Amino acid sequence: MAAFAAAGVLGAAGAAAFVWFGVYDVSATGPHLQPVHSLLEIALQRAVQRRSDAHPPPRDLLTRERVMQGAACFRDRCVACHGAPGVAPQAFSLGMQPVPSSLVEATRHWRPQDLYWITRNGIKMSGMPAWEYRLEEGELWAIVAFLDALPLMTPDQYRTLTASPEQSPEQSSEKTPEKSSASVGKVEGVAAARCDGIVDAPAPLVPPLATVELAQRAFRQHGCTACHTIPGVVGPDTSNGPRLSGLAGRDRIGGKAFPTEDGLTAWIRDPQAIDAHNAMPTLGVSETQARLMARYLLSH
Ligand code: HEC
Ligand code: HEC
Repeated sequence: MAAFAAAGVLGAAGAAAFVWFGVYDVSATGPHLQPVHSLLEIALQRAVQRRSDAHPPPRDLLTRERVMQGAACFRDRCVACHGAPGVAPQAFSLGMQPVPSSLVEATRHWRPQDLYWITRNGIKMSGMPAWEYRLEEGELWAIVAFLDALPLMTPDQYRTLTASPEQSPEQSSEKTPEKSSASVGKVEGVAAARCDGIVDAPAPLVPPLATVELAQRAFRQHGCTACHTIPGVVGPDTSNGPRLSGLAGRDRIGGKAFPTEDGLTAWIRDPQAIDAHNAMPTLGVSETQARLMARYLLSH
């Protein structure tokens, strides 16, 4: 028993020294050791599988409409990092560690509900963003349907499916001369579909969260914690923006808005409209999410 305790203390001391003396190479140029990499992959697989069954796929997941909508979402949101058939990811993403994988084989490793879960929730400490507040429920499933079609998709098919809305029909038919004008017309319909709206409120979570937790999640997911220390919300030690506490007792917020739910909501949604010279950016927060945050701030 004493030996176990001693080993435990030594282990903890070793781990503390490892951290304190900066032994671990945090650079994105230094890869993980192969065993660490494999361990992380298993941990990811197990963690996703354990949680993803709470959101079963719709029964008619693989419709043509979903695949086409998913293609537009993939083009707007994912290709920059993951690439696509015949399309390289953007240069910055090649410098990430882990490097975002090609998703052509994703359906070999993951079930539809797993892909939904990963896309909705992201992967901590990997660079994979959560899309919960950036893609509607229907768009999330559309991407899953698209990923299902991806393994058999040729570069030409991908190009046709995602031709940019600015391209005229002539241009796209030049690139893919084998396509009839009828199918080019259809492709234009896809291209016009976009995936960059604000999500007012994400689909319900399973298990559901309390309002306070939803507000805390909203602060983290809209980048507020990058600049503000907010009571009850984990985040970096920052003083880029003022600490957000005791706002209810104040005369004015940001020097101009009133400290009411409406005033605060207006500020959070569009601070530049209230004071064009302030440094807080407009972050694309929906009305519902802004009210959630405003109520939280007025009671903390
Ligand atoms: C900023 C870059 C970035 C963007 C944008 C991005 N991802 Fe990722 N994604 C990553 C990284 C990094 C990983 C972790 C490494 C890996 O496994 O590919 C990852 C992992 C994944 C995985 C797990 C892959 C696997 O087999 O381990 C899926 C699925 C995924 N992303 C889907 C998406 C979808 C769908 C979108 C668009 C809605 C998207 N990603 C947008 C960076 C990104
Ligand atoms: C890039 C940094 C940055 C981000 C991100 C940011 N803010 Fe701010 N915020 C500021 C700055 C700077 C101010 C001070 C503006 C001023 O008074 O001129 C401010 C002011 C505020 C105020 C008024 C505080 C006061 O004491 O008057 C509130 C409320 C606020 N931010 C909420 C938020 C919320 C909610 C989010 C997330 C949706 C957010 N901020 C994201 C930088 C940021």
